[in-house]
Amino acid sequence: MTRRPLVAGNWKMNGLCAALPEIEAMGAAYDDALRDRAELIVCPPATLLALACEVTTRGGLGLGAQDCAVAPRGAHTGDISAEMLKDVGASYVIVGHSERRADHRETDADVHAKAAAALRAGLTPIICVGETRAERDAGDALRVVGAQIESSLPSSAPAHIVVAYEPVWAIGTGLTPTVGDVAEMHAFARERIEARLGGGKSLRIRILYGGSVKPSNARELMHVANVDGALVGGASLTATDFIGVASAYR
Ligand code: PGA
Repeated sequence: MTRRPLVAGNWKMNGLCAALPEIEAMGAAYDDALRDRAELIVCPPATLLALACEVTTRGGLGLGAQDCAVAPRGAHTGDISAEMLKDVGASYVIVGHSERRADHRETDADVHAKAAAALRAGLTPIICVGETRAERDAGDALRVVGAQIESSLPSSAPAHIVVAYEPVWAIGTGLTPTVGDVAEMHAFARERIEARLGGGKSLRIRILYGGSVKPSNARELMHVANVDGALVGGASLTATDFIGVASAYR
């Protein structure tokens, strides 16, 4: 089963209009050889989506958002629906990022509902899971991630959904798990995804690793069994670093 690797850039709450040339530069560096090997998407803040869409389309990059509301429309001041994201050109949306789980107290049930909303709107959800440092130290990482998969993935989800394993303690810290720990977690995640969805879907679902991925460690991390790409934060803000990470697939 071949899964096309996906390298997704999560800009978080970074990026003004002046940053659009960076996306332009990513498109310029995303040459045919790399395109053959990996899919690249960038997830800028919602304020930039409509403007970024033109640029990503020209550069052959995909476009994703970082969160979506559950309802399709209505009296939800400040929220943005999956349908609205689709309307301005997004094809992916990250849901359940640990920063949203922490800052906005999003539960697995919320993440499940958001993933379902994304699918309803025709977006591909990138569903994030991952343990905290305390959970890993307590020997609980597999159990925690298994439970998040069980409760955050809609049971009828199709095989084009994406799951991202991001240990919370590795995000923005420069720390990464050992290759052995990544291999163990990704094999386990695929098993749990299969238990949740059945029908051999897990073999087609891409499982990304995220947490301090940068050009210098991308090759090692991306070549671990069952790692089908990366969710990249800090190193996705410049074309040089983002293409440097994706070049692990050259
Ligand atoms: P980082 O963030 O690459 O800056 O660690 C990853 C993420 O939060 O998706």
